[in-house]
Amino acid sequence: MASIVAARGLRKRYGDLEAVRGLDFDVEEGRCFAFLGPNGAGKSTTIRMICCQSPISGGSLTVFGIPAHPHAVRIKQQMGVVAQEDYLDRELTVEENLVLHGRFYGLSGREARERGQELLTFMQLYAKRQNRVKELSGGMRRRLVIARGLIGRPRLLVLDEPTTGLDPQARLLVWTRLNELRQSGVTLIVTTHYMEEAARLADHIVVMDHGRILEAGSPADLVERIAGREAVEVWGLEETVVAEQIGNLGRVQARGDSLAVLTDSAEAVVSRLLAGALKPERMQVRPASLEDVFLLLTGKDLRE
Ligand SMILES: Nc1ncnc2c1ncn2[C@@H]1O[C@H](COP(=O)(O)OP(=O)(O)O)[C@@H](O)[C@H]1O
Ligand SMILES: [Mg+2]
Repeated sequence: MASIVAARGLRKRYGDLEAVRGLDFDVEEGRCFAFLGPNGAGKSTTIRMICCQSPISGGSLTVFGIPAHPHAVRIKQQMGVVAQEDYLDRELTVEENLVLHGRFYGLSGREARERGQELLTFMQLYAKRQNRVKELSGGMRRRLVIARGLIGRPRLLVLDEPTTGLDPQARLLVWTRLNELRQSGVTLIVTTHYMEEAARLADHIVVMDHGRILEAGSPADLVERIAGREAVEVWGLEETVVAEQIGNLGRVQARGDSLAVLTDSAEAVVSRLLAGALKPERMQVRPASLEDVFLLLTGKDLRE
C-alpha cells in the first residue's frame, strides 16, 4: 500500500528543547493512524510539521511524496486540518466561517455554501448554520472545525485531539463520522491521549513519549505483544507477595488501590493466588487493554 506521509529521523527543536527526537513512521493511504501519548510527548509538534505549519529541524518528512515545508501549498490544498486551537471567527456565523475557508481551497461562494451545507448536515449542525460561532457550545465548535477541515474534500484529514473536552455523546458522533470518512477512503491522522479513542479509530498506533516512539502497531497487536492476553486485578495483597506467588506466569503492576497481573493465562494466576497462604480480598479478570500497554511502556496513567 502507498504511504501518504513518510518520516525518517524527523526532529524538531525549540531553542534548547528537543520536542521531537528522531521519528520514523509511514502513514498508509486510506488508513487511520494515531499518535498516542501523554501531554508534552510531542504529538502536536509532529502534527504541525505534517501540516506544514512549522518547519522540520532535522531528518526528512514527505506528504503526498512532497517534502513538507511551510510554503508547500500543494500539500496544504489536499489536506484538511483540525488543530487543537479552533481559529474560528466568533463574530461570524457558522456558515460564514465555512464559506470563508472554502475560498482558500478555490471554491466559489456558491460551491462553498453548498459544500458547507452538506458538511453541516454530516456533522449535525445544520440547524445552527445562521448562529454566530460565539453562541455555540464547545462540542458544536469542535464539530464545526471538523466540517471546516473537510471543505476542500481532502485526501488526508489531520486532527489534533479531536474529542478532548467533549461530552460522551459529542465524542461518539465524532468517532462515527471519522470512521465513515475513513471508510470513504479519506486517510486520517489523529493525536489523542484517550486510549479508547485510539482503540476505536486507529488501524495503526504509534505510542510516543518525550519526543520518541516507544512502540507501534495495530491496537490488537500492541495489546497482545506488550500486555498479553488477560489482566487479573487483585485487591488486598502486597505487590511482593503477588509477584512471588505468580512467578513467571505474568507481570505485576501497581494500580492505585489494586494490582494488575498481566498474563496469558488468568486462570493459572487466579488458582496460584488462591493457593497461597495470604488470600486476596478480591480478584477480577478482564481482557488486557491499551491502557495496560501504556502503563507498561511509560509507567504513566493517561486518565486525567
Ligand atoms: N512553540 C513552542 N515553543 C517552545 N516549546 C514548545 C512549543 N510547542 C511545544 N513546545 C514544547 O514541546 C514539547 C512537546 O509539546 P507538544 O508537541 O505540544 O506535545 P503534545 O501535543 O504531545 O502534548 C513540550 O515540552 C512543549 O512544552
Ligand atoms: Mg498537543
